[in-house]
Amino acid sequence: MSLRLRNPLKMLRSNAVAIDIGTGQTRILSPNGEVLLNEPTVVALEQGTCTVIVTGTEAKTYLGKAPDRISVVRPVEAGGIIDYEAARELLRRFLAQILPDDGVRIKACVVVSHGLTELEKRTILDCCKAAGLSSADLVSAPLAAAVGAGLDITQPKGRLLLGIGAGVAEASVVCLADVVYSETIKCGGLAFQSAVAQHLAAQHQISIGENMAEQVTQSLACAAPSDSLRAMTITGKFAATGTPVALELTQADLAGALAGPLSELEALVRRVMEHAPAELVADIGETGLLLYGGASQLCGLDRYLAERIKLRTAVAMEPHFAPVRGAAAALRPDLSFRKILLRK
Ligand SMILES: Nc1ncnc2c1ncn2[C@@H]1O[C@H](COP(=O)(O)OP(=O)(O)OP(=O)(O)O)[C@@H](O)[C@H]1O
Ligand SMILES: [Mg+2]
Repeated sequence: MSLRLRNPLKMLRSNAVAIDIGTGQTRILSPNGEVLLNEPTVVALEQGTCTVIVTGTEAKTYLGKAPDRISVVRPVEAGGIIDYEAARELLRRFLAQILPDDGVRIKACVVVSHGLTELEKRTILDCCKAAGLSSADLVSAPLAAAVGAGLDITQPKGRLLLGIGAGVAEASVVCLADVVYSETIKCGGLAFQSAVAQHLAAQHQISIGENMAEQVTQSLACAAPSDSLRAMTITGKFAATGTPVALELTQADLAGALAGPLSELEALVRRVMEHAPAELVADIGETGLLLYGGASQLCGLDRYLAERIKLRTAVAMEPHFAPVRGAAAALRPDLSFRKILLRK
């Protein structure tokens, strides 16, 4: 959902913003946690000249529909920038939508995936400055998400978190306001969607586009058996004839579709626990597993992981906002979260 406020800087009463440029979605918050922008990280460009045509919510509607002269790109992949110019233009336009053009210099606290290399983090910093920010601090997603989810991370108590975004899944053990161990894999909402699309192609010989695959995944896919009678009409084309098709599907029609990505997520959490020190794993037996990131809202995912890993599992409130809320908290001098910022 896109949310634009007319003059958010007035509400901001500050010259700082928190930013999360995710693979799927970009979010910008004020230090008080007001949502200034929440739009897809998608850009439509003129082929050849690379002139930006549209960005965000509008650009996402172009996915799978654009003619050859327009390329629709996701400039961020698995949390890292893969198309620098497109990412810079996207961020520049997003900032222009929410900040007044009175020349006030704005600094930012930017969420980054813990698994990125130093070079990838530096590229994000450079991109933020090139897009018009005066300076930027970085914060690791697991720590930011823990703060954003309201955990007290300052205690000598191990916490296990699993973040699942659009392109990245990151399992981390945090303790004493630091990440003790973390592993990242390329798995998330986009992998769920492509597994659902492959399942429909194999079972029903139907080919569907990216946006339809996202809708079906969010509405019907489930990680654990469910009694729900939810159904939806999917539209696409019959692979054999190329003709349009509209088909009513229920949750049962997608049974088993996500087996691949789900077992990758389970293996990731097990690996991270294997590598974590025994004292912290003992703590995690008490504190359980906390899920954050948009794709952690997949129906039944908390039950699936709880049953397999034998840990109490909960999903953070508004899990897609947890990292950027933590970054917003790190901007506030009245809270003591500056220590979670990455050292430059
Ligand atoms: N109910 C749901 N079921 C399954 N997936 C969902 C649901 N709601 C949102 N998602 C998925 O969550 C993903 C977006 O999550 P999020 O905004 O946390 O990712 P991101 O920060 O953009 O990406 P990343 O952190 O991987 O770089 C999308 O792929 C979206 O389809
Ligand atoms: Mg994210």
